[in-house]
Amino acid sequence: MTGETYRALVASEESNGLVAPSVKELNISSLPANEVLIQVKYSSLNYKDALSATGNRGITRRYPHTPGIDACGTVVYSAHPEFHKGDQVVVCGYDLGMNTPGGFGQFINVPGSWVMPLPEGLSFRESMMLGTAGFTAGLAIDRMLHNGQAPENGPVLVTGAGGGLGSLAINILSGMGFQVIAATGKTADAGYFRSLGAAEVIAREEVTDQSGKLLLRPRWAGVVDTVGGEILSSVIKSCKPHGNVAVCGNALSYELHTSVYPFILNGINLLGIESATWPMIRRRQVWDKLATDWKPQMLNEISKEISLDELPHYIGLILKSNIRGRVFVNMET
Ligand SMILES: NC(=O)c1ccc[n+]([C@@H]2O[C@H](COP(=O)([O-])OP(=O)(O)OC[C@H]3O[C@@H](n4cnc5c(N)ncnc54)[C@H](OP(=O)(O)O)[C@@H]3O)[C@@H](O)[C@H]2O)c1
Repeated sequence: MTGETYRALVASEESNGLVAPSVKELNISSLPANEVLIQVKYSSLNYKDALSATGNRGITRRYPHTPGIDACGTVVYSAHPEFHKGDQVVVCGYDLGMNTPGGFGQFINVPGSWVMPLPEGLSFRESMMLGTAGFTAGLAIDRMLHNGQAPENGPVLVTGAGGGLGSLAINILSGMGFQVIAATGKTADAGYFRSLGAAEVIAREEVTDQSGKLLLRPRWAGVVDTVGGEILSSVIKSCKPHGNVAVCGNALSYELHTSVYPFILNGINLLGIESATWPMIRRRQVWDKLATDWKPQMLNEISKEISLDELPHYIGLILKSNIRGRVFVNMET
């Protein structure tokens, strides 16, 4: 396939030194040599992709570069014993789209250890409606369940509720019988959060402690936090004894100021959620649950399909927190 070309969103350094994304034609032979060549059908847009597409060197060291931490599609060539031409597969995380050309290209070439079969029960489209955001929500919930989270313990708070991870976490948790509280900057969209299954919708300011107290009135039995910073430090203080706080993201801040009291007096479990390198065997277990019992009922309502040509516009929107739910990309349009 060496002479063949494909379309990709390429982030390149411009004459002013800034990095900006645009759609370009590339040769398949320009992909790094690897074990599994995949024709990408769908990808998805995550916050990290937007950072990579606009020159964040903490994520992507060298440009030009094709971002996209998620991809699904069909195997074109495989030198890996588990995969064969024609197999339907998914790749999420590892180094895809970071410093390896990612899912915003119509072809990717990756190590077999990053590839998993498309989970039974999911279509290609659904796998990317979920993508890394859905997998991370599933992983957080899985870790919380292993630490004793149960609906009868009390409600679960989801922060950054309007984002992809937050929206999916609400819908999965409510489907499992949890009472869910959504904390958001988009309280005007209360109807949306209720349609996902949130029992209560509160402004993000309502969860942010101004008192400086070391412990607060217990309000929730668990938290899926996607924002970090003072919201995370506040929700830890308001968690019921032996509750779980899953630390997923830093949409507000990477900082966390806290004391030992929530942990030594209330037994709070702080669970670090890292999706990119989660071991494949356990990764597949979470994906299998997402494809069956935990499948979000409102996946279509949470997700918006766009074309490759529309991606630069949506990258701008996600950076301004101007997107609700998930955006996934049809790579054939
Ligand atoms: N740990 C992992 O492996 C992993 C995997 C995937 C994502 N993440 C991280 O998780 C976070 C959420 O990901 P996502 O895909 O859901 O992103 P997203 O779709 O961009 O959503 C982020 C949400 O965060 C909230 N937010 C944004 N700016 C805020 C601010 N200044 N203060 C408070 N809240 C703010 C907004 O929620 P409202 O709309 O409700 O106001 C926004 O919708 C990101 O930091 C991402 O990097 C981590």
